[in-house]
Amino acid sequence: ISLKPYNTFGLDARASYFTKVECIQDLIKALSLEAYPNKFILGGGSNMLLTKDLDCLVIQVALKGIEIIEHQKDHVLVKASAGENWHEFVVWCLAHNFGGIENLSLIPGNVGTAPIQNIGAYGVEIKDSLVSCEALNIKTKTIETFTNAQCQFDYRESVFKQDQKNNYVIVSATFKLTTNNHQLHIDYGAITSELEAMEVKTPTIHDISKAVIGIRESKLPNPKEIGNSGSFFKNPIITKSHFEKLKINFPDIPSYSISANQVKVPAGWLIEKSGFKGKTFGNYGVHKKQALVLVNYGNAKGEDIYALAKLIQKTILQIFGITIETEVNII
Ligand code: EPU
Repeated sequence: ISLKPYNTFGLDARASYFTKVECIQDLIKALSLEAYPNKFILGGGSNMLLTKDLDCLVIQVALKGIEIIEHQKDHVLVKASAGENWHEFVVWCLAHNFGGIENLSLIPGNVGTAPIQNIGAYGVEIKDSLVSCEALNIKTKTIETFTNAQCQFDYRESVFKQDQKNNYVIVSATFKLTTNNHQLHIDYGAITSELEAMEVKTPTIHDISKAVIGIRESKLPNPKEIGNSGSFFKNPIITKSHFEKLKINFPDIPSYSISANQVKVPAGWLIEKSGFKGKTFGNYGVHKKQALVLVNYGNAKGEDIYALAKLIQKTILQIFGITIETEVNII
């Protein structure tokens, strides 16, 4: 079958076999099918670039359900199943006035894949509210719980991308969310100005969600209209001495301090400065409003987009001496 409807890049790669699982028992059954030795776990398909057809059984994780598992005076524990759409989960939390993930509004993808890359935006990451996640051990077919610490979260990183890569399927995630005294994160420049533009002086979690949606819609292409996987690269972290040297030739280079001798540089700036922003190569290219996003305008091929990504990486290494890593999984 064509995987086009199952990846937000809208790439027409094909899977030899495909199944959708709606409960853990079916997931275990699908993983146990010996007739198909190679299996590929699919979530929301929002963070991958398919560069070829998949000669394997693609298992779409569609476990559903959101449950309040504990209600305390100031907080709740909410458990969401892996197949829930992330943004719909955020909307559900807002409808219940549960705070903590409003800055993560409108991020594409599903609950089950969000912890793998510790999704983050506008000063908040999933690691800030995630208590634990339950994951199926593919070898033993048993469910194991990973606490927040065991997930080993870092910037767009977790144990599920590192030591335990391909060993588990996340089936649910549990979040600790506030019911009052919400901790607002409004320091991120773009949020501050969006709230000002909205003329909101004492923002609620609902205002913040609205502001985030406004910013995202103005910069990031809607995958339903233009195929994309959000930020294609991670923002690189470089040493302060490297940064100071770059400042001589590029006095306007932006940065965020990470530690005493490290800074993060926005990859979008590096790509724009290298002349790629808005560049179109036939039916694919670099987004006009946000250089960190690669886009498929029509029937582009994943391998062509991958070649463009490599060209961008090579150019940035030549100009700035910086290696930028892909954020998107290249399949
Ligand atoms: N910039 C440019 N040109 C561009 C794009 C960005 O010069 O075309 C520079 C500007 O200096 C701008 C800075 O980069 O101020 C930061 O840009 P932006 O606020 O758009 O954020 P980002 O660093 O490009 C990261 C995340 C996004 C997240 C935003 C907001 C990564 C890889 N990306 O992007 O996450 O929404 O911050 O918090 O960390 C995603 O992971 O898919 C994603 C969209």
